[in-house]
Amino acid sequence: MRTPLVAGNWKMNGSRESVAGLMQGITAGAGLEGMEMLVCPPFVYIPQVAAAIGEAPVALGGQDLYTEANGAFTGEISGAMLADVGCQYVIIGHSERRALLGESDGKIARKFLAAQENNLIPILCLGETLDERQADSTLQVIGSQFSAVVDVVGIEAFARAVVAYEPVWAIGTGETATPEQAQEVHAALRSMAAKRSAKIAADLRLLYGGSVKAANAAELFSMPDIDGGLIGGASLEANEFLAICRAATV
Ligand code: 13P
Repeated sequence: MRTPLVAGNWKMNGSRESVAGLMQGITAGAGLEGMEMLVCPPFVYIPQVAAAIGEAPVALGGQDLYTEANGAFTGEISGAMLADVGCQYVIIGHSERRALLGESDGKIARKFLAAQENNLIPILCLGETLDERQADSTLQVIGSQFSAVVDVVGIEAFARAVVAYEPVWAIGTGETATPEQAQEVHAALRSMAAKRSAKIAADLRLLYGGSVKAANAAELFSMPDIDGGLIGGASLEANEFLAICRAATV
């Protein structure tokens, strides 16, 4: 049985004031039965968010981590640090980092290992561009992004990991994949995982991300292989985020 996960990726947004307001709203609505709620703030706000969460049932995650534990890596943040300030999850390989910061599959695989070495659950992001979809190579692109990591970390590592399918053309564009388009990719991902381990594949949570909002969440989450969402813009508004979380409980 896969417990749906709804994760807010705040990206590079917020201020101490807006974070306080957002967390007040989210914690007030937390505790929904049958789903897990997660917020991933910018690094600098993680301690503030951890304090705001207190004992509320809201998980905390980073948006990235560095491959090494500590040392002379100016500007980087390690998995050990994220765990130290209360994170349970970390996003890895977001398409914005792949495209804007040149992250390779190899580096993403090393980050996956670094996360698990610190007891963090990696959320591995995969997704095709519009050109790749139009060239009919979506499943090939997703397959190669996925296997590049599985070949390094092994399928057993996915017993403590989450995968997020985020079509690049749907991120921040207002254009969501249809539930059928998303389901097709999720089903393909699960069968790729099943070729390596049927048990791991059956238990693996697969999130959809890309312009998810309260108005389309229920339809997406009703698909058999969609186990929740990775939410960008709509996670910055407490009521909208909570409505998406509620859509994951039905
Ligand atoms: P939007 O929900 O703003 O499209 O962003 C999706 C995303 O990139 C989450 O990681």
